Amino acid sequence: MNDYLIAPSILSADFARLGEEVDNVLAAGADVVHFDVMDNHYVPNLTIGPMVCKALRAHGVTAPIDVHLMVSPVDQVIGEFIDAGASYITFHPEATDHVDRSLQLIKNGGCKAGLVFNPATSLDRAKYVLDKLDIILLMSVNPGFGGQAFIPITLDKAREARKMIDDAGIDCRLEIDGGVKVDNIKEVAEAGVDMMVAGSAILKEPRTVEAYKETIDAMRA
Ligand code: DX5
Ligand code: ZN
Repeated sequence: MNDYLIAPSILSADFARLGEEVDNVLAAGADVVHFDVMDNHYVPNLTIGPMVCKALRAHGVTAPIDVHLMVSPVDQVIGEFIDAGASYITFHPEATDHVDRSLQLIKNGGCKAGLVFNPATSLDRAKYVLDKLDIILLMSVNPGFGGQAFIPITLDKAREARKMIDDAGIDCRLEIDGGVKVDNIKEVAEAGVDMMVAGSAILKEPRTVEAYKETIDAMRA
């Protein structure tokens, strides 16, 4: 595994040829496939579910699939994604009545578990479940749509989260999601983030392996 993980969000993929898009972005050097699940309830948009995750596995995708649940409630969907071949499953603490139980469900299913913090959600929500977290995902936009502008104060939050992880001495990735581009990824990395989601910055026209590779290489550099 690379020290820094690049996780293209397939929210910006051409859904009419999703398998090919995922193959291409992995061939271009992506580490992880970021998979955004929206329910038109927790967030005002509707995307893809466990059937699509399962289809990507059947298509031959072996890379880690990072399932970002923007649904409420979460427990039923967690079970379905475990069966569908998810690698990481993250959810928003506001979306479940029992954060500890939902994290435990993910871990019992053999997946890595994480909590997602909306821009205005305090990191305090992690305090009593730190030992169960494999990932802390900071939203640097409000969840629901790709292509939004990065909210700068997230960098302060990232530094705070990095300190929390290091002080606790836990093996936990710090992930960021929303508005990450070639021109701000360095600041994001310097704030202590080691897993970067990027949708519209990577998955755009001309939708070729070469073009994806150019962006991913620039991000890594
Ligand atoms: C937003 C999603 C993101 C989104 C990021 O709710 O969670 O993963 O795809 O898209 P960009 O990188 O375009 O901001
Ligand atoms: Zn996401």
